[in-house]
Amino acid sequence: MSDKHIPVIDFESCNLTKDECSHDELTKVGKQLVEGFSGIGFVYLKNYGITDSDVQDMHKLTEKFFLNPMEEKSRYCMKGGNNFGWIPNKTENATFNPNMPCDYKEAFNINSESFQREKSAWPDDIAPGFSHGVMEFMERARKLSLRILHALAIGMGLKDEYFFHKYHNKMHTKENNSTLKTAYYLPITEPLLPGQVRCGEHADTSSVTLVFQDSVGGLQKHRVIVKEGEEMDKKLRRSLIYFAICDNDVYVDKPLEYKDENLNERGEPDRQYLTTEDWLAKKLKQLWPDEKK
Ligand SMILES: [Fe+2]
Repeated sequence: MSDKHIPVIDFESCNLTKDECSHDELTKVGKQLVEGFSGIGFVYLKNYGITDSDVQDMHKLTEKFFLNPMEEKSRYCMKGGNNFGWIPNKTENATFNPNMPCDYKEAFNINSESFQREKSAWPDDIAPGFSHGVMEFMERARKLSLRILHALAIGMGLKDEYFFHKYHNKMHTKENNSTLKTAYYLPITEPLLPGQVRCGEHADTSSVTLVFQDSVGGLQKHRVIVKEGEEMDKKLRRSLIYFAICDNDVYVDKPLEYKDENLNERGEPDRQYLTTEDWLAKKLKQLWPDEKK
């Protein structure tokens, strides 16, 4: 996939720094979003209210954690069923395909429930300021996601321009699982397994995924990389990914990978709906099968 086909949308008129934007401005941006999402499926945003410098500051903050020794980071290892914590290198398989090797990356996931987490559960002792900086950034990402969904609803011509908001009311509480993933792609210094990449091809479970990239943009499969190759592999890469997810009690169409073979009385595949919470729980169990026991 080449990045030249991804549309660039100037979000200045709906920028985060504006408390409100006019219907005309939202319509203009919304139509561009609809065109991008219904075409290639991705868009680049510019002037959206979070600067490159803000993103760099976050990379520096999260790096304070990643630079710690293994034994220190291990105290914050992610546990199955709880989408919070450190994911060591070569332990997460984004493809969910057991025949594929795990990704060559470290990450730290911070879910919505973390906003109610005790200070002592955050890695602030080995990465000072982590909880404050992360929560502040997530709040801005939440607002941006809602602004995008607002513009999208208008761009789609929905009667209720706040239709999507109804299903994202509980973000950053334990009744929603919107998550920030801080990904730390280590320089590749050893032979990779066949098919091993920094982040395997996959589909997200979110309504909107915001990818805050380092200096290299573009998309390759899912992970935002272009020019993957020997020279790029030698470099440390970083990205922040914010997943805006529907509230836990919202029903979603059962994703293909979980659909049963059963047919209903009309001979059609039996469409079973899951709550967002159940759907994500299944995904987490797939990612961390050992933790099921
Ligand atoms: Fe993804």
